[in-house]
Amino acid sequence: PKPIRSILGNVPQAIKSVADLLSSNKCKNIVVLTGAGVSCNARIPDFRTPGTGLYDNLQKYNLPFPEAVFDLGFYRNNPDPFVQLASELWPGLRHSPTITHSFIALLAKKGMLLRNYTQNIDMLDVLAGVPEDKVIECHGHFRTSSCTNCSSAFDGEECKRIIVEEKRAPACKQCGGFVKPDIVFFGESLPLKYHRLVKQDTKMADLLLVMGTSLMVGPVNMIPEMVRSNCPRILLNRELVGTFLRRNGPRTRRKSYDTNAHRDIFHSGDCDDSIRTLCALLGWETELDELNAST
Ligand code: APR
Repeated sequence: PKPIRSILGNVPQAIKSVADLLSSNKCKNIVVLTGAGVSCNARIPDFRTPGTGLYDNLQKYNLPFPEAVFDLGFYRNNPDPFVQLASELWPGLRHSPTITHSFIALLAKKGMLLRNYTQNIDMLDVLAGVPEDKVIECHGHFRTSSCTNCSSAFDGEECKRIIVEEKRAPACKQCGGFVKPDIVFFGESLPLKYHRLVKQDTKMADLLLVMGTSLMVGPVNMIPEMVRSNCPRILLNRELVGTFLRRNGPRTRRKSYDTNAHRDIFHSGDCDDSIRTLCALLGWETELDELNAST
């Protein structure tokens, strides 16, 4: 086959480096960490991009602070802002997986994906064809629901109907408390599956790919710090975030700075554009397009 460098003229060096890693046959246990930025091209706003992010567009709810809409304590007292928002945002057939979601599914198809840790609640990762056992929905999902007071399970479809059609919070049949979908609110712990797998996955990872996240919210934002020090870390994001390309902080015990520069690759831009350029270099474009068209 033609050397990949001759396919496209001005490919950013960072993307070339990622292509070299993925074609080196050394990346068989890739951990992918995604955030709301990978769903923006599916017309789902992210949270913090100034102007378009969800947190800049909640004025009508008169919240004390934007994140209150996903705060457990706030919901127990006043579920209406979340109910209004959920009735508009409830994942349905209105949104399709992006090229970036399909790329993650393609990595799984090629046997290269260890796990996709997604912070998103839009279920587009699974819809893109990423096998369920390869997806960790770190911040929950809308499929099931439970009481915020006694934790009793509540029928997910009934919860959706009441929120989307009646625009009110369902009442728990056991204690009368407010029910909500099982998305993780601030103040709630992450799914057990996350805690069960994150340590072993980050130890096994031979490549970390972070896309579409500000890395502002823990504990998921610690994943880039948990991979081995010789694990390459790729950031495909509009902006530089987290500890990418930065010194790790004060002198380490080894009396030398432990910087990330030697193992980090950062490319600033739209993740779909970056992924498309990467797949062109790898010769994966047809497979990528076929996968995306099939969802
Ligand atoms: N391509 C690449 N990066 C993008 C794109 C895009 N098309 N669109 C947005 N981004 C980047 C933004 O620059 C930002 O750095 O994606 C990031 C999105 O950050 P946030 O809006 O903070 O979303 P996220 O990181 O997923 O938020 C984490 O915060 O409110 C909680 O539970 C919520 O899961 C969410 C968590």
